[in-house]
Amino acid sequence: MKTVLITGASRGIGLEFVRQYSEDGWRVLACARQASPGLENLAKKGEVRILPLDVADRNQIASLGKALFGQNFDLLLNNAGIYPESDSGGFGKTDYDDWMKAFAVNSMAPLLLAETLVPMLRKGGTIATVTSKMGSLADNTSGGSYLYRTSKAAANMVMKNLALDLAPRGLISVALHPGWVKTDMGGPHALIGVEESVSGMKRVLDRITLADSGKFVGFDGIEVPW
Ligand SMILES: NC(=O)c1ccc[n+]([C@@H]2O[C@H](COP(=O)([O-])OP(=O)(O)OC[C@H]3O[C@@H](n4cnc5c(N)ncnc54)[C@H](OP(=O)(O)O)[C@@H]3O)[C@@H](O)[C@H]2O)c1
Repeated sequence: MKTVLITGASRGIGLEFVRQYSEDGWRVLACARQASPGLENLAKKGEVRILPLDVADRNQIASLGKALFGQNFDLLLNNAGIYPESDSGGFGKTDYDDWMKAFAVNSMAPLLLAETLVPMLRKGGTIATVTSKMGSLADNTSGGSYLYRTSKAAANMVMKNLALDLAPRGLISVALHPGWVKTDMGGPHALIGVEESVSGMKRVLDRITLADSGKFVGFDGIEVPW
C-alpha cells in the first residue's frame, strides 16, 4: 500500500489531498496543528492517521521523525502554508515578525521535514511542495506581497536544491503551483475549486519520474517559469 504524508491537512487544499489519496486506496499520514471535523470524518472512512504537527515548531518536526521511525512512505507533500494578513499592506507596511513566520512555515519547514524524513522515503519516492506562482520571479508583474512572494521563492529554491542533492538517492523533488483556488487563502473569487486543483496536482505526481525532478509544475501539468 502506498503511503503519503501531508502537512496542513486540516482544511483547504491539504484536506482535499487527504480525501483524494485516501479514496485512491493510499495510506495517509495527515499532519495538522489541530484535527478539523472534516479530517476526523475522513479518518473514520479510510486509512488515515492524524498526526499533530505545527510545521513552524522544530521540536514537533523532530518528534514526528521519532514517531515515524522505521516506517516507509512514498510521497512527502509539503502543503501547509500561510499568507500573513499584513502582507496586503504593500510597500512601506512590511511586518518583519510576520515575514519570519512566513519563512518558517513556507520555506524552512519543507527543508526541515525533508531532512528529518528522507531516511523513511522509499527509493523512487517524491518530495513535493505546494509553493505558488507568486514565488516566480519571471511571473511577477504586479509587485507587492513581499512576505508571501519571497518565502515561496525561497521554497522553490529549496525544491530545486533537493532535486540536485537527492538525485543520487533516487529521490524526486518538485515544486507545485495549485492554481488560484477557492479556499480560505484563495478566497471566494478564485478561479478553481479544490477538487480540480488537487486532482490536477495528483495527475502530475502520478506521472512524475526522476527526469522531472527539479521542475516547477502547475496543477494543469504546464511548467511554471522560475
Ligand atoms: N489557495 C490558493 O489560491 C493558493 C495559490 C497558490 C498556492 N497556495 C498554497 O497552497 C497551500 C495550501 O493553501 P490553501 O489555499 O489550502 O490555504 P488555507 O485554506 O489557508 O489552508 C492552509 C493550511 O495550512 C495549515 N497551516 C498553516 N500554518 C501551519 C503551521 N504552522 N503548521 C501546520 N499547518 C499549518 C493550515 O492549518 P490550520 O487549520 O491549523 O490553520 C491549513 O490546513 C499553501 O502552501 C498555499 O500557500 C494556495
